[in-house]
Amino acid sequence: THQWRGIIEEYRDRLPVSDTTPVVTLREGGTPLVPAQVLSERTGCEVHLKVEGANPTGSFKDRGMTMAITKAKEEGAKAVICASTGNTSASAAAYAVRAGMVSAVLVPQGKIALGKMGQALVHGAKILQVDGNFDDCLDLARALSDNYPVALVNSVNPVRIEGQKTAAFEIVDMLGDAPDIHVLPVGNAGNITAYWKGYTEYAADGVSRRTPRMWGFQASGSAPIVRGEVVKDPSTIATAIRIGNPASWQFALAARDESGGLIDEVTDREILRAYRLLAAQEGVFVEPASAASVAGLLKAAEQGKVDPGQKIVCTVTGNGLKDPDWAVAGAPQPVTVPVDAATAAERLGLA
Ligand code: F0G
Repeated sequence: THQWRGIIEEYRDRLPVSDTTPVVTLREGGTPLVPAQVLSERTGCEVHLKVEGANPTGSFKDRGMTMAITKAKEEGAKAVICASTGNTSASAAAYAVRAGMVSAVLVPQGKIALGKMGQALVHGAKILQVDGNFDDCLDLARALSDNYPVALVNSVNPVRIEGQKTAAFEIVDMLGDAPDIHVLPVGNAGNITAYWKGYTEYAADGVSRRTPRMWGFQASGSAPIVRGEVVKDPSTIATAIRIGNPASWQFALAARDESGGLIDEVTDREILRAYRLLAAQEGVFVEPASAASVAGLLKAAEQGKVDPGQKIVCTVTGNGLKDPDWAVAGAPQPVTVPVDAATAAERLGLA
């Protein structure tokens, strides 16, 4: 009888809702904070994973989407639109179903993971594949919402940030205070903005005594914030963060500078190494973009930037099932055996 009620009910007093707001929820949030044994050993720190792939549609986007769709409903919207590298569209499509709304999604042609496309399809979204990248999709989504009766639910909509800040609340509620360092992947830069807002709100109200240093990591081929300039043709295997002109760029810089943090890059090779480590040694299956946080932590540790004894939280943003191609790629094909215990035992190395 006592299940988690979703982020709006759990944090109602810290979100822009009233008693009459029609809450649209799939009971998102309340995600596991999992101690990371191998990462803790490697860094000499106490490392935790905030496993956002455990949200209803398999990514952190649900925290923002419950707010965005709830407010759209409150304002009487009949249709919502978003640009997406896949997770936002999956979430928008699902929450639109709950709200009885039409969803339209714009995705970069050929550059979104199959699982995410499947989600948008099965939830009945109207999907357009755009001949361009995410940044082009976002320009188009803004133009459509400016000129047609459709509400924009990308993270440029400030209520998305309000919803996503609740992940920081959950971490402080679990640990009793903010960690020393919070690490996360950066794409459009909404999430780093949201976490920083959550941590600073809790600290300002005395719920926590401190705020963490915010460490964000972009993929090397899509690292405009690190380079200090727009990347025209971003590339990375981590399609979720294949973004060359992040909408919340300035907020990400503010989070970095106000927290004494950093924004750096990790290569696709480093991302895949962290992806495999998380699955094979921590038991946590994430999508490649999510592994950018852990890849960044490991890189920083190798560079001697991580003093031992600290409390560190890495957000792993999306479920590995979204993009299983990378789990299968390069792995040996399972052998086929007859229905015979002796043969099976021999092949399993038991005999
Ligand atoms: N990790 C995953 C799995 C994502 O899907 C995203 C963003 C990020 C990290 C980066 O978060 O954009 O707030 O800096 N995905 C967006 C989408 C762009 O359309 O699903 P950010």
